Amino acid sequence: MSDVSARARALREQIERHNRAYFVEDTPLIPDADYDSLVRELRELEAEHPEVRVEGSVSTTVGAPASTTFAPVVHAERMLSLDNVFDVDELRAWSERVARTLEIDADVISFAVEPKIDGLALAITYVDGEFVQAATRGDGQVGEDVSLNVRTIRSVPTSIGAPGRVEVRGEVFLGNDDFLRLNEAQIARGDKEFANPRNAAAGSLRQKDPAVSASRPLSFLAYQLVGDESAFRTYDETIEKLAAWGFLTAAHRVVVTGIQEMVARSSWFEAHRHDLGYQIDGAVVKVNDLAQRRLLGSTSRAPRWAIARKFPPEERSTRLLGIEVSIGRTGRATPYAVLSPVLVAGSTVSMATLHNEDQVALKDVRPGDLVVVRKAGDVIPEVVSRVPEEGARRSRPWRFPEVCPECDGPLVRREGESDTYCVNPACPAQLMQQVLHFASRGALDIEGLGEQRVGQLLREGLVSDVADLFALRVEELAPLEGLGEVSAKALVSGIDAARSQPLSRVLVGLGIRHVGPVAARSLALAFEDYDQLADADLEALEAVEGVGPVIAASLFRYVREPDTIERIARLRAVGFALREPRVERAAASLAGRAVVVTGALEGYSRDEAEAAVVERGGTSPGSVSKKTYCVVIGDAPGASKLSRARELAVPLVPAEDFEFLLETGTWRNTLA
Ligand code: IVH
Repeated sequence: MSDVSARARALREQIERHNRAYFVEDTPLIPDADYDSLVRELRELEAEHPEVRVEGSVSTTVGAPASTTFAPVVHAERMLSLDNVFDVDELRAWSERVARTLEIDADVISFAVEPKIDGLALAITYVDGEFVQAATRGDGQVGEDVSLNVRTIRSVPTSIGAPGRVEVRGEVFLGNDDFLRLNEAQIARGDKEFANPRNAAAGSLRQKDPAVSASRPLSFLAYQLVGDESAFRTYDETIEKLAAWGFLTAAHRVVVTGIQEMVARSSWFEAHRHDLGYQIDGAVVKVNDLAQRRLLGSTSRAPRWAIARKFPPEERSTRLLGIEVSIGRTGRATPYAVLSPVLVAGSTVSMATLHNEDQVALKDVRPGDLVVVRKAGDVIPEVVSRVPEEGARRSRPWRFPEVCPECDGPLVRREGESDTYCVNPACPAQLMQQVLHFASRGALDIEGLGEQRVGQLLREGLVSDVADLFALRVEELAPLEGLGEVSAKALVSGIDAARSQPLSRVLVGLGIRHVGPVAARSLALAFEDYDQLADADLEALEAVEGVGPVIAASLFRYVREPDTIERIARLRAVGFALREPRVERAAASLAGRAVVVTGALEGYSRDEAEAAVVERGGTSPGSVSKKTYCVVIGDAPGASKLSRARELAVPLVPAEDFEFLLETGTWRNTLA
């Protein structure tokens, strides 16, 4: 018994400490996922051992007591949190519980599915249509008066057309672009960078000086109308009302019927979590019918009519076992962390980048430390920060090695640069990376050239430049260990086939700094062959869609380097045409262009429409920005996308022109 109660007490203490750090000090010490698992463990302990339960346990409360910096505000109606589920099965189980309570079939329940924005909850009160007060959640009962700061948020209307007392609740957050801009400004002023948009939003909202808040690009998204609901039948209707009053509402919110669609839509948010323009950590599912909501009611902590489906965490803490250095294809020496393996964003991570020498020093991470690891989308895992541990003995600060771990050549860091390089042009690690990159899927796509095989070819002295690959003969490969006649033939024919790859893939394969697949494709399409590209002046390069001054300058320099001239000559000699075939031009009608689709298009699901754009070389992001090429307007388009497009004067293309757009890359008419 005492073991269990000691563990419960320890968990409560830890959770309380993290609540303070997160809600009061705006500087979380551990990733959200680690916090969630502490709460989960405590709840499970309390459920299994009712004798260890205590009154007011952190497992049943919300947030943390309000700080003393701001005046306290007692909420007219408790500000609840949301219960979480962590996978599809738990989500289904929740909806089945809802159905049982309502005594109806889950397949007829109308659910709203919307993003779970990673910001802070806020309650705004209007009296006779005028803004009078804004308060944070605090512990759910008492929050902090942040009215002066909230008045400076542009997406909060100062007056709304509603009589009496109205309370609007929602989330304060920072959009991704705004977050990046804010951090740039922080750096420029010599101030501390914020770890993530949520911390930046929290820190910005809880400023003592409203002028500082005003300078922060905060947004507010409304999702709840508190008080008299008699005018509305559904959540959808209340959201429409909020939008009509001028509040921002979730752009990708949908109302669906039944479990299957509800689950599918929540997964859509997971697939698009990085395309929305702001950070989300899950999807929220809510019962749409307000009468049903009243029947379901709430616990002390959260409503029973809503649930948050949390996505796999993109941050976890783990032990740093050691720091090593790897050599890239340009000779750059990148320090990386060797970690005790953890599951992050659905896969096991045992290595993570530390970027460069300064980053290691700045984060002050040392072997033996507990660290936070982050893996988001396709981005390579990185070490974000150190988790301080009281009383822990730490190893000495890590020092960057002075010689290359691969070739023993000197490692050099030039004055004013943050990166360190192995400057030995014959370093086998550099060559290895060049060949691997050249053969990779996004470049020449040569099968059978993995790390092991390439290492072997280099050691045997058969390859010392990418062009050497094309001189390899079956007779010299077959005797190599692990190859044999059959594999050798397959490898040679795979390499052979690469000769007919278009210029764009060769450009990618060369690994020119800043020239990624999108720019490579636009450049290849614009110039058609390598010589014309190499002859182009800076102005001509910059004129290409998706090519800015940085890419243009890098390419301009690259094509003039003696090593490049020699390498290109060798590639030509082994049979590369270095041209972009014309047929591909028609197919790539939308190369490098961002086409936003909103509303339903006849004959296309949302995913199919997006795929059609991507197939033609374009992208189909979830939100409109000034880089958007056009917005295709389907049936029942999203109001916020429409207004944003109008604001930025992005062309609105009618649905009838979608196919024309795919074919030609342009349109016949636009809408007003
Ligand atoms: S509804 C009573 N909807 O997540 C229902 N909350 O972890 C109140 N959040 O306290 C919440 N996006 O601060 C709701 N679309 C959304 C949300 C959302 C983010 C926040 C909110 C809530 C917390 C729970």
